[in-house]
Amino acid sequence: MSELAKNSVVSRVKKRPDIIRLYANITKDLDKVEERLKLYSRSHNKLIAEISNYLFQKGGKRIRPALLMLCSKMLGYNGKEHILMSTLVETIHTASLIHDDIIDNSEFRRGKESIHVRWGPNITVLLGDYLYIKALGTSLQSKHHRITQILTDTSTRMIEGELSEYCMSGNQNLAEEDYLDIINKKTASLFSASCQIGGILGQASKKEENSLKEYGTNIGMTFQIIDDLLDFIGDEKILGKPVLSDLSESRITLPLIYTLNNDGKENRERIAELMKKKILEKDSLEEVLKIVKSNGALDYTSKKAEEFSLKSREIISQFPKSSHRDALALLPEYVLSRKK
Ligand code: FPP
Ligand code: MG
Repeated sequence: MSELAKNSVVSRVKKRPDIIRLYANITKDLDKVEERLKLYSRSHNKLIAEISNYLFQKGGKRIRPALLMLCSKMLGYNGKEHILMSTLVETIHTASLIHDDIIDNSEFRRGKESIHVRWGPNITVLLGDYLYIKALGTSLQSKHHRITQILTDTSTRMIEGELSEYCMSGNQNLAEEDYLDIINKKTASLFSASCQIGGILGQASKKEENSLKEYGTNIGMTFQIIDDLLDFIGDEKILGKPVLSDLSESRITLPLIYTLNNDGKENRERIAELMKKKILEKDSLEEVLKIVKSNGALDYTSKKAEEFSLKSREIISQFPKSSHRDALALLPEYVLSRKK
């Protein structure tokens, strides 16, 4: 990584807002979400109970529930439905991750073996389906019937994004625009839906609801670009999942797209040669990493993430000032400087 990128990442991490402070207003409600998530482990079905118990131990950042709650409360919501709705978005997120780990051949998540490594892919697919359908079905309990429609549309978009990513793997002609479209669908859509649902609970006007959707999309884009950056420069122990896993499986993300478009002919040809293999071995991974670190791709990626985070801050700053809005304005900064 260039000195510039190293400095900006280091200074950013030093200034990183503390998640405990960000969640100060909603700690009790987030604890209630934890309790609800634990209910899956009381299932009469032994496997559902056992795997859910493993899955829903604390450890996730719970960003989507936090966004939903903060958006609703910023608009003055003081009912109880936000607990259930936050549980549902976290459930859909979890279901998508256990499927994703099968698709991506990822063996670790949150510092522990992935579900498919412990229980095998067949059971894992079924458990993902179970959580996902359960969440959609439960959303019908809301008096806001639009929420079920939003969650179904979002899930469809997530699947479309994941499918496009899979089909594009190894395709060195992937354009930045296509990459942004993929991450918008697979990741940012659930961030956006979480904020929108918060808005619906808080009786947002159409204009406010659209702003919250936009805010969520931009913070979600920031999240995924940083996720892809951390795959190159993150620390495995802190991340709780292996680094260089995108590259090793030929998933082309922004640092590589930048490299393939901007590096010199020699390096581009070398990468093309190395990536002829579908799975890259350690030596090849290190060689590609060295090239990516040398040409400004990491600075570029980090700046792109910053652009999305600034956009989200700009959108949220248009809401009236409150402690909830302050937390929503700081969350993009947290996502940008996150190390896990
Ligand atoms: C993680 O991306 C994956 C996602 C954000 C979305 C996955 C979506 C699906 C599997 C579609 C199925 C959806 C449902 C609702 C069942 P990543 O691989 O870049 O991140 P990672 O490094 O954390 O694995
Ligand atoms: Mg993955």
